[in-house]
Formats: sequence, C-alpha cells, structure tokens
Amino acid sequence: MTAISDFILGRSSEPRLQAPAPGPGVLARAFACAARAPDHGLLRPWRYLVVEGEGLERLGDLFADTYGPEADEKILAKLRKSPLRAPMVIIAIASPVEHPKIPAHEQVLSAAASTTLLELALQDAGFGVMWRTGSPAYNPAVTEALGLSKQESVIGFIYTGSVISAKPAVPRLEPTVFVSRWPQ
Ligand SMILES: Cc1cc2nc3c(=O)[nH]c(=O)nc-3n(C[C@H](O)[C@H](O)[C@H](O)COP(=O)(O)O)c2cc1C
Repeated sequence: MTAISDFILGRSSEPRLQAPAPGPGVLARAFACAARAPDHGLLRPWRYLVVEGEGLERLGDLFADTYGPEADEKILAKLRKSPLRAPMVIIAIASPVEHPKIPAHEQVLSAAASTTLLELALQDAGFGVMWRTGSPAYNPAVTEALGLSKQESVIGFIYTGSVISAKPAVPRLEPTVFVSRWPQ
C-alpha cells in the first residue's frame, strides 16, 4: 500500500465548508495536478473559473435569474444562496475541440479526470471539496453568461474551503461487486 492509495481510501467529499478558501499557492499546485490528467492527443480539453467573494453572490444571482418561469420564491432563494455554501467555487469546464480521431466524449472524460485530480490535490492540502452539478450546470443561459462556447459544458461546480465538520462515513462498495474477469 502506498501513501497515495491510503490517501484515496481515506478521502470523502465534504459539504460543510467555511473560510478560509485555498490560497494562491495551494490553487497553483492543485491546477498543476489537474493538468496531469490522462489526455488523448494532449488536447487539454478542460478549463476552470475560480469564483470567490462577491463573485459567489453574482453566481447565485445568475442561477436564480436564469431559472425560468416555473420557479417559485423558495426555489429562487435556494438557488441564490447555493454558491455561498463554501468560500470558493471552482467551475470545471469541459472544452472539447473538433478532432478527426478523438471524439468529444473522450475529451469530456479527460476533463472529468482533470477535475478529480484537482479535487484530490485540494484535499491533500487539507481542504474540503464537494463536486456539485444541479440544474444550473445544464442551463444554457448560465453557461452563456459564464462565457462558455457552444462546444463547452460545465461538468461541475467544485465547492471548496475548510471543513466545518466531517460528514458521516459513506458506505463504500467492495471491489468484488463491480469487478469480474473476462472471459470467465
Ligand atoms: C459529476 C458529478 C456531479 C455531482 N453532483 C452532485 C450534486 O449536484 N449534489 C450532490 O450532493 N452531490 C453531487 N455529486 C456527488 C458528490 O460530490 C460526492 O462525490 C458524493 O456525495 C459521494 O461522496 P464521496 O465523494 O465522499 O464518496 C456529484 C458528483 C459528480 C462526480
């Protein structure tokens, strides 16, 4: 067992987060880790937007203002407050390009691998992380206002900060449940 697998086996997402958020040094290293993701063709099909401070309120306003006519006040208030659940939200974006051999979905997988490495690096630095999506991630009015192109998509809102209290342990699957040999 290596230190890396011990660390992975001990990690959890943490929803209860407060200031301080990761500082510039931690972020720089975490993004350097994110850039080590497996990446067919070295297309670098990911990018990130870092949101904190007043930006979190603007993000909440954007979520609420673009929700649509069916929203009631309760939903809108919840959306408006949702980015304030952490002192920093990192918007993870899949940014695929046209390629004759590497389909867009492979590039999205690579962006997800990059985001996973980002999460692990932030957790390794002692910060809590929670990957969230929800309806704003798939709302074209949100993605357009964030400056995404038609080819790009939000693959996650990565909430990060200092853990207030650890969440209860999540039951983990035994590998025998999801691994088998082929041919049997
Ligand atoms: C693509 C993706 C989207 C997710 N979206 C949400 C979400 O919107 N809300 C949520 O509570 N958890 C969401 N999660 C799950 C959590 O981040 C977390 O992984 C899950 O609760 C399991 O906890 P664990 O990471 O400690 O195993 C998402 C995970 C992924 C990979």
